[in-house]
Amino acid sequence: MPAIALIGAQWGDEGKGKATDLLGDQVDYVVKFNGGNNAGHTVVIPTPDGPQKYALHLLPSGILTPGVVPVIGNGVVIDAAVLFSEIDALVSRGVDVSRLVVSANAHLIPPYNRTMDKVVERFLGNRRIGTTGRGIGPTYADKMNRIGIRVQDVFDEKILRQKVEGALDQKNHLLVKVYNRRAIDVDVVVDELLGHVERLRPLVTDTTLLLNTALDDGRTVLLEGGQATMLDVDHGTYPFVTSSNATSGGACTGSGIAPTRIDGVIAVAKAYVSRVGEGPFPTELHDDDGERLRQVGHEFGTTTGRPRRCGWYDAVIARYSARVNGVTGFVLTKLDVLTGWEQVPVCVAYEVDGVRHDEMPMTQTDFHHARPVFEMLPGWDEDLSKARSFDDLPPNAQSYVRRLEELSGAPFAAVGVGPGRDEIISLRPLIG
Ligand code: GDP
Ligand code: IMO
Ligand code: MG
Repeated sequence: MPAIALIGAQWGDEGKGKATDLLGDQVDYVVKFNGGNNAGHTVVIPTPDGPQKYALHLLPSGILTPGVVPVIGNGVVIDAAVLFSEIDALVSRGVDVSRLVVSANAHLIPPYNRTMDKVVERFLGNRRIGTTGRGIGPTYADKMNRIGIRVQDVFDEKILRQKVEGALDQKNHLLVKVYNRRAIDVDVVVDELLGHVERLRPLVTDTTLLLNTALDDGRTVLLEGGQATMLDVDHGTYPFVTSSNATSGGACTGSGIAPTRIDGVIAVAKAYVSRVGEGPFPTELHDDDGERLRQVGHEFGTTTGRPRRCGWYDAVIARYSARVNGVTGFVLTKLDVLTGWEQVPVCVAYEVDGVRHDEMPMTQTDFHHARPVFEMLPGWDEDLSKARSFDDLPPNAQSYVRRLEELSGAPFAAVGVGPGRDEIISLRPLIG
């Protein structure tokens, strides 16, 4: 013990990678439990030669901490080519990846699902989700449809071939007859997947057994979520979501660690909000303020490079996240980005067709019509990047943090004031 889940409270890109990295030396295992290479986590590490920036997609952010065992859990979908190119890139920069383990039950993203993802998005036209095009949705759909390919399947060529044939029987009908594409050849897919066998073999293990034994032995396990609460397939803004459970419940199913063993849930929230892709976003700014948040906060996707949509902090969403995840502590990031505004609006409730909602509306229709009710908080002009304690913050930034904490439904444990590992203010312990 203990096991701690760390999840995104908004629509992703809250700074989960940095928060995981921050906890690195307090944990023994870091487990990615959902998603795949749709995620993009930027971690900035100070070195004697200056800050080093790493962009991680499929590997858990804990891989950058020496001594931690990084684990790709059963709930993840793996593009094997991406996995090995990410490993190679880290090795070439001197990162030790030798402890990495991969669940035998994780699903592989076969090449046809990258094709399906892109073709379906094009077909949807203005009803598209704005996916990352990495084959994530079709691979989770195959998993639920029981036609998925798991990591362990590549160790039995006969089974692998049968499964690929079964999946392509259905997909090729769709590709040819509905989407007007060429059929995909079974041999090509089988050969591509078998091409990864030798590198996969030494990594693959029963990760559920490994992690539960580690907890029995008193080790600390951090369960790192990709994406975020509002992108969760059950609790997010469906259908404009990803296809996995990014909330704390997903940490259990995606790792094989029981709910009774989870001791804390850390939620990462930005001091404002961003979103990539389509879907409702009540506090979104379409004006110069939105452009200013994007430029000052460098809000461009780590995975696809797309400009992120930006808006003011939404406390309704924070409260909702606190509730569905059982949050025990928030990490508030990017407070430094808000320097220089005369006033900073914070959304405290919504108005839907003339009715005030203090909690998330029940239906998609109401959420699409939700208009933010703003409270205006006084801004500050000081550079925050050197602040290392709450008292170092200017009074208006302190009031901003305190008011957000009052509104957000769980205590704030840390506040980020810059991308670097040391650019953080600790308010209370995150673990223990
Ligand atoms: P993730 O997907 O949740 O891990 O977040 P991303 O890495 O996609 O996006 C967060 C970005 O904000 C990264 O570029 C981080 O380096 C950066 N970041 C994290 N915390 C802070 C902070 O407190 N202040 C500033 N200015 N940048 C931060
Ligand atoms: P991290 O872990 C932000 C969004 C996509 C799209 C929707 C579905 O870096 O926070 P998908 O390819 O998953 O089927 O796309 O989800 N999305 C993310 N947005 N951060 C992410 O990850 C995301 N992963 C997926 O933009 O709207
Ligand atoms: Mg990201």
